Amino acid sequence: MKLTLSVIKADIGSIGGHIQPSHELFQSVREHLAAHGRKLIVDSYLSYTGDDIAILMTHSHGSGDPAVHRLAWDAFVAGTSVAKAQGLYGAGQDLLKDAFSGNVKGMGPAVAEMTIDERPNEPFLFFAADKTDPGAFNLPLYLAFADPMNTPGLILSPKMSKGFRFVIMDVSHAEADRVIELNAPEESYDIAALLRDAERFVVESVWSRASGEQAAAVATSRLHNIAGKYTGKDDPVMLVRTQMNFPATGEVLAPYATAHFVAGGMRGSHNMPLMPVCLNTGTSYFDGPPLVSCAGFAMHEGKLTEPVDCFAHPFWDSVRARAADKSMEMRRQGFFGAAMLPMSELEYTGITEKLAALEGRFTTRAEAGVERAAA
Ligand code: 13P
Ligand code: 13P
Ligand code: MG
Ligand code: MG
Repeated sequence: MKLTLSVIKADIGSIGGHIQPSHELFQSVREHLAAHGRKLIVDSYLSYTGDDIAILMTHSHGSGDPAVHRLAWDAFVAGTSVAKAQGLYGAGQDLLKDAFSGNVKGMGPAVAEMTIDERPNEPFLFFAADKTDPGAFNLPLYLAFADPMNTPGLILSPKMSKGFRFVIMDVSHAEADRVIELNAPEESYDIAALLRDAERFVVESVWSRASGEQAAAVATSRLHNIAGKYTGKDDPVMLVRTQMNFPATGEVLAPYATAHFVAGGMRGSHNMPLMPVCLNTGTSYFDGPPLVSCAGFAMHEGKLTEPVDCFAHPFWDSVRARAADKSMEMRRQGFFGAAMLPMSELEYTGITEKLAALEGRFTTRAEAGVERAAA
């Protein structure tokens, strides 16, 4: 059966700054879906991660379907009026356009979708991250799909040994989608060379080379490309199918034990470790630390089971403790060096004006190497 999995997420307001949505806001989005989605979608699941609400929908209308996108957009619009009525912070933050125009891509919400032939059993994972950007998934995807040190399936399973195709997007190119396709393992050094620059090159999708099936889909939106200024981080969502031709669920989850440093945290301007958290967790320390949650599902003809909260397992407690230690360690150096993101990422913030104002106060000494007169 051909099925589409669509995740559409947005920050439409939160309590206490950028912490988490209110119960009433969350419920209003759920109620809108229940009231208007019945004929359109097979099933749905709603969660929040930090201040972002994500709607996972299963349906038969294909990727980029205007009616499905409109359903999510309208649910977020309905939620925004509740957020405003409650005085929530950043009400409607990610709804950057006034009128819906057929597809939420380029309008603020993040989207990850894939259309698949549902397998007789269809395990998949839905990831949502807050206070970071799509590049946060570069390392975990590289490890899961291209590194046998993380994923023994790459050498143990004949189908997985054929490798995976990475579709990588240059997200600095705002005019159009600029993408490259590279094959692991032959081109894994090329893949690594791009993915190390996680603010520019991000994995958009991963495909099995054995079967041609899509394994992963990542939201790649860059809000500052849409708004022209900082309006919040590009908190991403991702879908990953697991088992059979794909890595095992545990192989996809394992890389998050690194709590690797990602772009995010306070004002979207810092490098902080990515903390794996339970579903429906808010933020706290330093508007972070950047969070990632994961809901595991099985489904039959689009009907979802209940979610399994993949990072709720006791194993992740020590990873969380280490992520907290890494966060505090990095914060000890304030805005200096590696703690803050490079200028290319900050140029959409107020620092550009500050530097421009200082520009006129620089002087050039007349003679190179000569000290200014002591007088
Ligand atoms: P099963 O024994 O359930 O097939 O699991 C095998 C496996 O690959 C787990 O990683
Ligand atoms: P969000 O992108 O999650 O709204 O966070 C914005 C921010 O600047 C937090 O410090
Ligand atoms: Mg916010
Ligand atoms: Mg957010």
